[in-house]
Amino acid sequence: MGKKTVHPAEWRKLLRTARAALKNAHAEYSHYKVGAALRTRKGQVFSGCNVENTCYGLSNCAERTAIFSAVAQLGPAMEIAAIAIAQGDDKPCTPCGACRQVIYEFGPNAVIYYQAEDGWKSARISKLLPDAFRAKTS
Ligand code: THU
Repeated sequence: MGKKTVHPAEWRKLLRTARAALKNAHAEYSHYKVGAALRTRKGQVFSGCNVENTCYGLSNCAERTAIFSAVAQLGPAMEIAAIAIAQGDDKPCTPCGACRQVIYEFGPNAVIYYQAEDGWKSARISKLLPDAFRAKTS
């Protein structure tokens, strides 16, 4: 198991990085800009924004942009310890189901900081995605 909690100062820093990243969002269609910033277990920070497409289904969420960027730089052994999500108008933005599955793949103990309808929360991925899928091939 990872550390039980993430220090509030670290959430503030990740949130600041997520908010900076959302300035680059391509949210032409939803007008809903999102930024995400993650810290790996080794302490590296990566950020991402949502990147939409005129063919809507091709759009990519901020969380997955950040995660894929981390994998591209560090390889698939990197592990997400913490990830913060920010929305451009400071509206609630909880991670979608697809992103929960991708967070789990690279951070089965990751803690996520996000704004829900009833305020800011931090929760472990195992709570947000119970019984997550992981293929057993042997
Ligand atoms: N979106 C994210 O980037 N992250 C989330 O956690 C939820 C939704 C994006 C996808 C799409 O570009 C826009 O927000 C509206 O759904």
